Amino acid sequence: MNTVNYLRISLVDRCNFRCTYCMPEDTPLNYLPKPELLTYEELLRLVKDVFLPLGIDRFRLTGGEPLVRRGVVGFVEALAQIKGVADISMTTNGYFLEELAEDLKNAGLHRINISLDSLDPAIFQQITGRPYWQKVWRGIQAAYGAGFSPLKLNVVVLPGINEQEVPDLAALTIDLPWHVRFIEFMPVGNEAYFQKTGWVNSETLRQRIRERFGLAEGTCLGNGPADVFQIPGAQGTVGFISQMSECFCDRCNRVRLSSDGWLRPCLLNEIEQIDLKTPLRNGATAEALQDLLRNLLAAKPEINYKEQTTRDTRIYSRTMSQIGG
Ligand code: GTP
Ligand code: 5AD
Ligand code: SF4
Repeated sequence: MNTVNYLRISLVDRCNFRCTYCMPEDTPLNYLPKPELLTYEELLRLVKDVFLPLGIDRFRLTGGEPLVRRGVVGFVEALAQIKGVADISMTTNGYFLEELAEDLKNAGLHRINISLDSLDPAIFQQITGRPYWQKVWRGIQAAYGAGFSPLKLNVVVLPGINEQEVPDLAALTIDLPWHVRFIEFMPVGNEAYFQKTGWVNSETLRQRIRERFGLAEGTCLGNGPADVFQIPGAQGTVGFISQMSECFCDRCNRVRLSSDGWLRPCLLNEIEQIDLKTPLRNGATAEALQDLLRNLLAAKPEINYKEQTTRDTRIYSRTMSQIGG
């Protein structure tokens, strides 16, 4: 059984983008009222009293878009000061990085993953619903300039939309020490769109990159489910997150906390999630909260194996933006 040492904390369910695969323009937005969100103080208490004592010492901040929540830099700073915190990372759409990358780095953020689905501003707009390619590109440069390493770029591959750009996106890694990861489109978020479009197998993409540049095994610092390769002689790497074609549950090291305090054992498992916020707000002791986490961790391996991710037919009431990817 894999040790769980990594928590993805969704700081907020809101987002300033409208990615077609996640929360397209016509999604009815049922954003959480602010009092439902765990406060930064509550999150810090959970980290100190519940997660660290049970060996979870790596934290990734996600959303929605984590940087739309006010005070994130201060939160990162407070988190980084807690003794025992081994790694703090963030997954972001990059929009606010032009302004915030440097401050985040100084606050103690170690690693950053940024979505970039296209090198073409028009296609970027078609996918994200926003004309922000230049702004995001400047944000990526700002993160690079601030010294984030590794710097990872996430590309959700959509058939017929950005699929043909995959070799060009992979080519970014030749001269830059960036890690470009291609993510198989999952039927979470915009399921209707998924049914219409389908998804592209990572092996097909590897083949295309191999034909153009060659491709060897690679390595990259991180905790995640990506299979890592490298264009020979390149400075960076290319990764593949293949949750549709490959079940990587057996190496899963993570649990997820939603912004309103539900702790979820698996991205695709909504049934076994537990409510931490209610006991926390009702004054539960650290021991009582740890017991809840202990039970969830004990149940996790079985849940992982049982839920063959691509065949799970459960209905998800939470979208990707609410879970944080
Ligand atoms: P690092 O390797 O630590 O950099 O993190 P990561 O790659 O897990 O983080 P990121 O937020 O960039 O996630 C990239 C993609 O992987 C997202 O589309 C996630 O939904 C997907 N992903 C991450 N964890 C899981 C998981 O446990 N199960 C599945 N099915 N997909 C995951
Ligand atoms: N399939 C695959 N990846 C997705 N993401 C969001 N929705 C989906 C989906 N349906 C990705 C984003 C980001 C990460 C948090 O999750 O592109 O990289
Ligand atoms: Fe926002 Fe990320 Fe979802 Fe795009 S994938 S709409 S950037 S939460």
